[in-house]
Amino acid sequence: MFDFDEVVDRRGTSSEKWEKYRGRDIIPMWVADMDFRSPPAVIEALRQRTAHGVFGYTKAAPELVDTVVGMLDRDWGWRVDPQWIVWLPGLVTGLNVTCRAVGEEGDDVITLVPVYPPFLSAPRYSRRGLVRVALHEEANHWSIDFDRLRAAATPRTRLFMLCNPHNPVGRVFDREELQKLAEFCLARGAVICADEIHCGLVIEPGKRHVPIATLGSEVAQSTITLMAPSKTFNLAGLGCSFVVIPAEELRRRFLQAKAGIVPMVNPYGYLAAEVAYRDCEDWRRALVSYLKGNRDLLAEALPQMFGGLSMAPVEGTYLAWIDIRQAGLDEPVGFFEEAGVGLQDGREFDGPGFVRLNFGCRRTLLQEALRRMTVALKRRRDG
Ligand SMILES: Cc1ncc(COP(=O)(O)O)c(C=O)c1O
Repeated sequence: MFDFDEVVDRRGTSSEKWEKYRGRDIIPMWVADMDFRSPPAVIEALRQRTAHGVFGYTKAAPELVDTVVGMLDRDWGWRVDPQWIVWLPGLVTGLNVTCRAVGEEGDDVITLVPVYPPFLSAPRYSRRGLVRVALHEEANHWSIDFDRLRAAATPRTRLFMLCNPHNPVGRVFDREELQKLAEFCLARGAVICADEIHCGLVIEPGKRHVPIATLGSEVAQSTITLMAPSKTFNLAGLGCSFVVIPAEELRRRFLQAKAGIVPMVNPYGYLAAEVAYRDCEDWRRALVSYLKGNRDLLAEALPQMFGGLSMAPVEGTYLAWIDIRQAGLDEPVGFFEEAGVGLQDGREFDGPGFVRLNFGCRRTLLQEALRRMTVALKRRRDG
């Protein structure tokens, strides 16, 4: 019904992902957007909005708010008061505003590494200290090390930044893990900032995303949840996302921290969000199934390459976290670019020895990338 195999040429659209390698034969598999067209219903709604021709300042329509409240209940069993929702033009903005809104300068923020780079920079931009706690890793399987977490907490820890589903290791954390994490934060009076932008992209059958704020009202009262349709429906360039803050005082501080700095969302972003969440569940399901096919292809191909590459089991996201420690590559990204594949260096995520591959693309392109990687590694082995 939806054709994710369609060849869509993104060159010449100023795409950040594709422009990086403009004029070079390198398949871009780095920044996290997908090469698929957005759902047809979204495209049609935007077409009609364009025909109207007036693009003035725009508010979140009551229909959009109803749609989001309905979606949170339908998908996650989360009853949200519309007043708890704050709209933002981006979730990186949300991470940074959260750091400014919680605690004071000189306080500490904990996060689990490796992690999406803005988690590492946001505390510093807000003059907070960053406490990095390494996830436990065994053969590229990742989990939260609670002993390490407890040992790392400082008296000035005011904020815990959680990424779930986790970029880049692909974990969808279990209810039990989240429960323990919430207990850890509540016991220390630390606010939880939960970036759940990838929650619509759980690809492992049987796995279920649990918004940490749904664990109970006490947890909800100390949680700032960040969500957006941008990853799931491939709308990143339209800049529409939202934050859910049940606690009034926390919400007040958040609004104060963003006042006068953060612009409004634009009319296209709002409209796309409304249509995506309301009318595009069938598209999302088809996408998830396609992405699972891509993930399975990768999981099969990588270990067969020379160099002992292995991929973390991707439960959610379209991002593969690939262990290259045994391959002995000093500059892995340069090596794979030379081979014609553009990956992202794990060091950016505080994950040296790994690269991240974005498999949100048509399967034939992924197959070609895998072929190029295989050839390059074989050539290297053969000297
Ligand atoms: C965990 C996470 N948060 C936030 C973002 C970006 O959000 P935005 O484009 O809305 O700033 C990304 C994009 O890759 C992400 O992976």
